Amino acid sequence: MSGNLSARIAALRAELKDHNYRYYTLDAPVISDAEYDVLLRELERLEAELGEPVPADSPTRIVGAPVSAVFTSRTHAIPLLSLANAFSDEEVQAFDKRLRDMLGSTSFSYIAEPKIDGLAINLRYEHGHLVVAATRGDGRSGEDVTDNVRTIADIPWKLAGDSPEVLEVRGEVYMGKGAFAALNAAQESAGDKTFANPRNAAAGSLRQLDARITAKRSLSFFAYGVGLGGKGLADTQSGLLTRLHGMGFAIQKTAVLPDTAAVLSHFAAMQAKRATMDYEIDGVVYKVNELALHDELGEVARSPRWAIAHKFPAEEVETLLLGVDFQVGRTGAITPVARLQPVAVGGVTVSNATLHNMDEIRRKDVHIGDTVIVRRAGDVIPEVARVVADKRPADAMGIDMPTACPVCGSDIVRPEDEAVARCSGGLFCTAQLKEAIRHFASRRAMDIDGLGDKLVEQLVDAGLIEHVDGLYRLNVADVAGLERMAEKSAANLIAAIKTSKQTTLARFIFALGIREVGEATAASLARFFGKLDALMQADEAALQQVPDVGPVVAQSVLDFFAQPHNREVIERLLQAGIAWPVAEHGGARPLAGHTYVLTGTLTSMPRADAKDKLEALGAKVASSVSKNTTAVFAGESAGSKLDKAQSLGVPVLTEDDLVALVNV
Ligand code: IVH
Repeated sequence: MSGNLSARIAALRAELKDHNYRYYTLDAPVISDAEYDVLLRELERLEAELGEPVPADSPTRIVGAPVSAVFTSRTHAIPLLSLANAFSDEEVQAFDKRLRDMLGSTSFSYIAEPKIDGLAINLRYEHGHLVVAATRGDGRSGEDVTDNVRTIADIPWKLAGDSPEVLEVRGEVYMGKGAFAALNAAQESAGDKTFANPRNAAAGSLRQLDARITAKRSLSFFAYGVGLGGKGLADTQSGLLTRLHGMGFAIQKTAVLPDTAAVLSHFAAMQAKRATMDYEIDGVVYKVNELALHDELGEVARSPRWAIAHKFPAEEVETLLLGVDFQVGRTGAITPVARLQPVAVGGVTVSNATLHNMDEIRRKDVHIGDTVIVRRAGDVIPEVARVVADKRPADAMGIDMPTACPVCGSDIVRPEDEAVARCSGGLFCTAQLKEAIRHFASRRAMDIDGLGDKLVEQLVDAGLIEHVDGLYRLNVADVAGLERMAEKSAANLIAAIKTSKQTTLARFIFALGIREVGEATAASLARFFGKLDALMQADEAALQQVPDVGPVVAQSVLDFFAQPHNREVIERLLQAGIAWPVAEHGGARPLAGHTYVLTGTLTSMPRADAKDKLEALGAKVASSVSKNTTAVFAGESAGSKLDKAQSLGVPVLTEDDLVALVNV
């Protein structure tokens, strides 16, 4: 009887957690409050009836969905294995021979599954409910990404039909080609970084701290295996896939094949089909279909002997090099880009490919007019791999780095010890100016909503902005006068620009676009110096005292502030009203040397603001609790970090304490 009771309690807890998550994290409840209350009351009643201690994370104890701040590590009950690779028919034949030698006269067949280019995930179901989703990690333990995985429509929260008490389902999270293209287009127009390939996009989307962002990323999932609890579900891999499909998972189209001849012709067919598929694959996985033989064959070097991944060769095509353009990046770096006779590679038409830099051009001996081999290896940025030397026409032309910037005409310089040549025009160069403005306005810098790439292009080309500070002198009429700009969006943009004036010192330093100063370094500089003046006056010795700042970064900061025009731009930005919270203590940093951890939900301010304020006072805000933590501020529904603080004897303070501290 108590077994049934425990099972019902477990099921109710899992179900209520799902509803909390839908309600609090996704803002998309699927049941009414009244229905929720009925379930909650049943759980309360059963917990009382069972009479055992109620765990701290039971829905009867916590309100809301826990806020994740970092990903907790999860040890896999059964390690996730990797696959050995085969790059040729011979290697596949050798694999087949090994199997036949080991299995003797036992007959077996192969199942061929497309090899999805995504990332492996282990899904743990208890009583049919999804409880933990973890990345593969190093195979033994991975990161808990449960909240994010729940936003993937292909992954059931509750298994259909009968299932073992505990079942681990394994498969690949991936981003389809359409979703990938749409994401990159959106990233580009928002001035955010684009992803090199769907696998990176999928991994980046799954590792978002805010599951609402993951939810917008259109991730998909295919199941291809089981872990704990999976024995006995089927006799064959093909039967297992059918069973998983019945439980509610998406599975791939596969083929069961008798021998290597059939396997290799299937491989050729898949290679031809690859371009027309909705998602990227990078090969075909062959597995012994009879599951009983898997145990017999075992594994070696953390790969099963019963499977192999037959990889597609990198896609290469021949085309003509029509010319070379030199593109100018934010820091003035000049990149040679090949203009090609358009050609299809792996389902996309390619008309540009990177030539990396002049050293690469020399090494590969590339000439304009050459027939070149263009390669696209999973990555979407194609490159010129090599030249077909015997097809070089008599009038082929050598390629030289221009001496003047193609955009602004300033000298191009290349420091002796660097591979990269740069335009020396600085912000006088409109190409660099456009990149500088995009960076300045980007989400992690000044966060100006609605200032996309196109608009930056238009504003600069129309001569409305000459330096980043020009943004703060724009008015609605200026912007509304641009092509395809409605009055309403112009007004929204001006409002967003105005809002961006309230910022933090760290964001401001990052926004300046100083070479070598990324987001983390900007935060360190802000924390260390506390005031902009102090940073601007710092000498090399002072700069090198900042954690993570070495000679290269220090020099770059010195160079930046040594330029009078950079100081002028900063002066004008401050005059325009850009400001950040400065403590009343004249830049002293009263919290310097202290490390805090924020956990749970804060009700009086967003967590990012709390972090900014603490940092402005000189404190460090860490994501995990250690014995060196000064104190943990626990908001509502604080979870494991609170427990950790208590076990380490680290003081736990309330949100009121936090407010009192930052509002000194
Ligand atoms: S089976 C022990 N099947 O490839 C078997 N893996 O290179 C391990 N992958 O970590 C996985 N498609 O991320 C399997 N149909 C498929 C797959 C597949 C893609 C990935 C998976 C794995 C990696 C190994």
